[in-house]
Amino acid sequence: MKLHILKNDDLIAESVAKIFIDKVRENPSAVLGFATGATPIKTYKQIIRFYNEEKISFNNITTFNLDEYCKLPKDDKNSYYSFMHEQLFNFLDLKEKNIFFLNGNAENMAEECRHYQNKIATVGGIDIQLLGIGRNGHIGFNEPGDVFLKDAHEVRLTQSTINANSKYFTKNMMPNSALTMGIGDIMSAKKVILIATGKEKADAIYRMTSNKISPLCPASVLQFHQNAEVFCDEAAAEFLSNEI
Ligand code: F6R
Repeated sequence: MKLHILKNDDLIAESVAKIFIDKVRENPSAVLGFATGATPIKTYKQIIRFYNEEKISFNNITTFNLDEYCKLPKDDKNSYYSFMHEQLFNFLDLKEKNIFFLNGNAENMAEECRHYQNKIATVGGIDIQLLGIGRNGHIGFNEPGDVFLKDAHEVRLTQSTINANSKYFTKNMMPNSALTMGIGDIMSAKKVILIATGKEKADAIYRMTSNKISPLCPASVLQFHQNAEVFCDEAAAEFLSNEI
């Protein structure tokens, strides 16, 4: 796991956006995995800027998102489908048919998860998967627990995640479950980039990079990934000692 500590989130956004743009330039049919949440917004703005300035085409790119709420209409303003279109996809020349989300309104959630994994496999796997990190160390919606769940699955969100995300919803309207890629799906990506900014992520970053790999901090599994890069600002890196 390669750790980059940068001065601020603008520098992180620029570095991470450049990695995505370089991948699209190198392979115009690449498969990209995206995350939602507050953290990647600046990175998405930078991707749009580079896309416009460098005239790079996303026309043959395929995308998969990490997760989606259950029982929230796809076009609800808080769905991850809406978020990604508003923050990134509407500004690129992606084809809608190449944009994939887990369907949190599927009749059979287990089948939907299998279908999503099969789709990822059919296109040859994800070239770069972007991740944020929850304050409790979650990645995607893989919440802390007794085991690492390998496959895509339905998850009941923890109170910590509900507290962090409920600000986006009208009172008590936040879904309490979601579909998420599993740890195995994330670990299968050829490259993983995790971004963490702000002091509220400092504890999670400390736990994910300490020697202990445990499902109690799901992000710690990335220590086993052959090509994982972690980008932190100084606030998120506050508890890291010099030896890391
Ligand atoms: C979102 C996701 C989550 C977020 C995490 C951090 O698709 O998978 O794991 O990355 O909850 O969210 P923010 O960036 O809002 O702090």
